Amino acid sequence: SEKPTIYKGLVGVYADVSAVSKVMPETNSLTYRGYAVQDLAENCSFEEVAYLLWEGELPNAAQLEAFKQETASQREISPALHRVIREFPKDAHPMDAIRTAVSFLGLEDPEAGDVSHDAQYRKAKRLFAKIPTCIGAAYRASRGLDPVAPNPAHSFAENVFNVIQGRVPEKEVLKSFDVSMILYAEHTFNASTYTARLVTSSGADMHGAITAGIASLKGPLHGGANEAVMHMLKEVGDPAKAAAWLHGRFDHKALVMGFGHRVYKSGDSRVPTMKKYAEKMAEVVGDRTWMEISRILAAEMLEKKNIHPNLDFPAGPAYYLMGFEIPLFTPIFVASRITGWSAHVLEQQADNRLIRPLSWYTGPEQRPVPPLAAR
Ligand code: CMC
Repeated sequence: SEKPTIYKGLVGVYADVSAVSKVMPETNSLTYRGYAVQDLAENCSFEEVAYLLWEGELPNAAQLEAFKQETASQREISPALHRVIREFPKDAHPMDAIRTAVSFLGLEDPEAGDVSHDAQYRKAKRLFAKIPTCIGAAYRASRGLDPVAPNPAHSFAENVFNVIQGRVPEKEVLKSFDVSMILYAEHTFNASTYTARLVTSSGADMHGAITAGIASLKGPLHGGANEAVMHMLKEVGDPAKAAAWLHGRFDHKALVMGFGHRVYKSGDSRVPTMKKYAEKMAEVVGDRTWMEISRILAAEMLEKKNIHPNLDFPAGPAYYLMGFEIPLFTPIFVASRITGWSAHVLEQQADNRLIRPLSWYTGPEQRPVPPLAAR
């Protein structure tokens, strides 16, 4: 039979319907449950957005309070997981550490084996609560430091800083961080979200889907780009060298990290907001080097290649200026995207059909198996 059209990379393929978020590349816009991300980022806390992604509506004051209490009270991880984390190799990448920790949380989960909607939703909230604790414990263990116990009175943002850095920064820094969490929370059928849905489609559980999502997010074409961006900015080092450095990349036809997007071709909806808050961080720290290099790279990429930056481009330097070490950037993305992933898992299972595409065979023609002695 004739070779069918192959949609390599599933470019342009609508694989399912979804009510979680909508990307509109024509207008460079993105909505979560109907609300523009930039409005959510300016007006809401990350907890409100997490609630929105799961419940479909923004919480009122009482619902928000109950949600914050429910999740903040579940941040502790078990002594067994603390022991396992202490055994991780000191030079393990924090993404591998969080992937393993989430998988372990699945072993211990009080509702392991129950894939009903309600149990899966509770698992998602437990993961939302515990992921920062795991990232903090693993990072600190790798530096020979004791873990910092999560404080249930802290907001989500305060808690992330406290369990990783052992300090809670000023309000402006917390706001910028919260903005990044909101912008990272959800983005339709990106690779990791689709991975989570694919795992779910076989009837597998929340922890399996999220572990797989983390594995997918690690790659440099996806979430790993926020780390790659900061390595790049440091390699450039000096705004005066930025243009020449970039032209060298063009000569090698190398990818420039933090640029380009499968869906947005004329600008990522999330970039202006993240850039504004990265600039604020540069002001707070009193170091404009990274933003200045970024400005030159973005202008040159647009002029010479007509390629726009994606969210990872301003998020990388923002996290650096907030005092996070570079290998923590993608795990921080995980702490946010657990919301979008799990909203999709719940949506997938509510109207599931096993995801099982076809492949067009290009291997050898059918042939007899030669006996071992004849090979
Ligand atoms: N640097 C240089 N050239 C690029 C880049 C880039 N970052 N992105 C796209 N191009 C070129 C690409 O080489 C291609 O050129 P040509 O037509 O001559 O072959 C053209 O632009 C079209 O790109 P594409 O390869 O068809 O785009 P895609 O949809 O397959 O890939 C992408 C999208 C995000 C994987 C890619 O842009 C990329 O690798 N970017 C760098 C990594 C990155 O920043 N990833 C973060 C993605 S968004 C947020 C997230 O998930 O965290």
